[in-house]
Order: sequence, then C-alpha cells, then structure tokens
Amino acid sequence: MSAVASTTGICTRRELLQLAAGGGLCAGALAGLGGPAVATSAATVAPRLRDLAAAGGRFYGAATGRRQLEADPDFARCFAAECGLLVPENELKWRALRPAPDQFDFSGADWLVAFARRQGLLVRGHTLVWHDALAPWLQTVRRARDAEQLLGAHIAAVVGRYAGQMHSWDVVNEVINPEDGRADGLRASFWHARLDSAYIELAFHQAAAADPAARLVLNETQIEYDDDASARRRDHLLALLQRLLAKGVPVHALGVQSHLVGHVASDFHALADFLDEVERLGLRLIVTELDVRDWELPAEPAARDAAVAAVYADYLAMMLPRPNLDGVVTWGLSDRYTWLSEYGARADGAPVRPLPFDHACQRKLAWSAISTALQTVANKTRT
Ligand code: XIL
Repeated sequence: MSAVASTTGICTRRELLQLAAGGGLCAGALAGLGGPAVATSAATVAPRLRDLAAAGGRFYGAATGRRQLEADPDFARCFAAECGLLVPENELKWRALRPAPDQFDFSGADWLVAFARRQGLLVRGHTLVWHDALAPWLQTVRRARDAEQLLGAHIAAVVGRYAGQMHSWDVVNEVINPEDGRADGLRASFWHARLDSAYIELAFHQAAAADPAARLVLNETQIEYDDDASARRRDHLLALLQRLLAKGVPVHALGVQSHLVGHVASDFHALADFLDEVERLGLRLIVTELDVRDWELPAEPAARDAAVAAVYADYLAMMLPRPNLDGVVTWGLSDRYTWLSEYGARADGAPVRPLPFDHACQRKLAWSAISTALQTVANKTRT
C-alpha cells in the first residue's frame, strides 16, 4: 500500500456492506472520517480528492452556488481544499442569467468563475439548453425564427464571455425522454417544439464558434441502471450521438449525470457496455452530477452512510478506470447543501446524506469510497 493509501480511508465493499447491516467500522473508514470536530475541516488534511484524482489523470470537482460559498467560509474552505473543479449549480441557467429578453445578469456566474480562478480550480459550464429553469418570458417566444435567433445569440454571449476559461460546457441537457412518445426518443421540450431536433446541432455549432477550446458535452440523465427505461434511453442516446457525429456536429463528450439511488444494488454492467460503444465513437466521458439518494435507506446514519458509500464504490469501480474519462463531479460536496434536501427528502424527515462530506463538512464513508477508487486508478497510472 502506498504512503497516500495508508493515510486514507480504505474500506472494502464487503466491509461497507457489513457496516450497512449494522457491523462495526472498518479501520480505513475511521482514518477517512478522522479528526476532531474543530474549526479545521477534514478537507484541509491531505490527501485531498483533487490531488488523488490528478494523480490518476482525472479531475474531481463539485457543483456549488455563490450564496453557499459567500455566506459560509467554512464550507468555502472545504470546497477549495478538496475540489479541483467547480460547476455553477444554477447560475448559468436561463432563469438566473436572463431576467428579461434584452438583459443578461452575469453577477452570480462571474463571482463563481472569479472564486475558481483565485483558488486554482477548473470550471464547467452548466447548461446552455435545458427544458427546465427557463426564463418565464421565454414562453412568449413562439416562432421558429425568433427561437433560433434567441438561442444563437444567447450561446454566443454566454460562451463568448467565458471563452478560454471553461474546461467544458454542458451544451444540451436531458434531451432524451422516450416517455414523450417520439420515435427518435427526443424530449418534447420548449426548444424542440419550436426548432425540432435542429436546436441540438445549432447549439453545438454556436458553442464551438464562441469557444473553440472548451470541451462540448451532451449531458444526459437516467441512463445508469439495468432496467428497461434506462436501456431505452441509452439506445436513443447512442443513435443520437451517432447521427450528430456523422453530420460533423462538434460533440466532444458525453456527460453521465449519475444521480444514483442508494437502495438499488447494481454492477452497472449495462451502462458499462453502453459506454464502451460511446468510447468507440471517440467521445470523452464525464461523470457530471454524481450523488446517491438515501430516501429508502435505514434512518441510522452509520448504516445509511455505509450503504451510500457502497454505491459510490461500485459505480466508480466501473467508471473511473475508463480510458476516456475526464473526471468526476459530485452534485454538491457537503450534505449541508444538496438539492436532494428538497427533491429527495426522506419520509421520516431525517436530513439526507447523499454526498462525500457531512453537514459539519467532515469526511464520510462516501469520501473514503471515492478516495479509494481514485487511488486505484492513480496506482495503475504509476505502474
Ligand atoms: C438542480 C439544482 O441542484 C437545484 O438547486 C435546482 O433547484 C434545480 O436544479 N439535473 C441537472 C441539474 O442537470 O441542473 C439539476 O440541478 C439537478 C438535475
């Protein structure tokens, strides 16, 4: 075991599952969790996820918001210490950026990009085209010509503003939704209703023109599991990627959101087969929004944390060694700030625990699982 590994929380998957069933803590978990509950965050103690990821040629980062970083210096310290990349969680969505048709409000996004630069973090842009978080006034835009002009100008302005500063952009987000009944599986969204499938190509071309250096990503959700619904989405998604690439559309990577579910065990082999195909197309991969919902898991925090960590371990064991993987982003860093407090609340009202750090910004078993997976890749890189 390397010097790095010996100071890190290492638990085997079996130990995590024993924990989930009420067994004792493994030594690695204690090392990972360690440290007194004082002002110094565990995140300031080496090794940090960003360094472990970099040692294997990947990045580790998280989504966050201006309000969290600005109002909470403890959290900001933890974030800057542990992350190598930042994703604005909401600040680059239309609802935040576009108060009126002729206005842009870059204040939130600018603040986050400046924070990232000060701390030496990469930034990912999220997201240029989505069916959700639309500016309310957009509904008055009805004609195809107006929608096309508006979308093109929006992407030129937003991507252009941060040109050269973004690692990558989620150009389109969640465009597949077979439940809408279309033969091509595309989502019946605001943009689709006005521009048909052409909005996807338009968005990628416009983004490439505005920032030739950024990696352009098609970001997708609910493709991770072995069930029929995920399989259908993967089939449509693969066909879409093939169509776009055949037409020379500048898609560079697939973003796999990875909002996982704690009570569903999986070896993710169907996803692995699909990702083999995607990599064969020459596309890069990014895990863009990883977290693990704990709403069906036992209330007792230690057991819950172990079950959540086991899912992180299984998922990253499949994902991290993939040759085309750029890196991993968790959708939040600490359970103090997670969208799942609202969107994945537990029936018993207990605070949710889906992320690598707890409410007090102390490392959890999920942190240990991520660090173990990162180290495995780093060790392989070294040999
Ligand atoms: C979520 C944010 O985390 C919340 O704060 C917001 O209220 C709703 O959107 N998939 C995505 C993200 O691509 O943009 C979503 O983010 C979570 C699901």
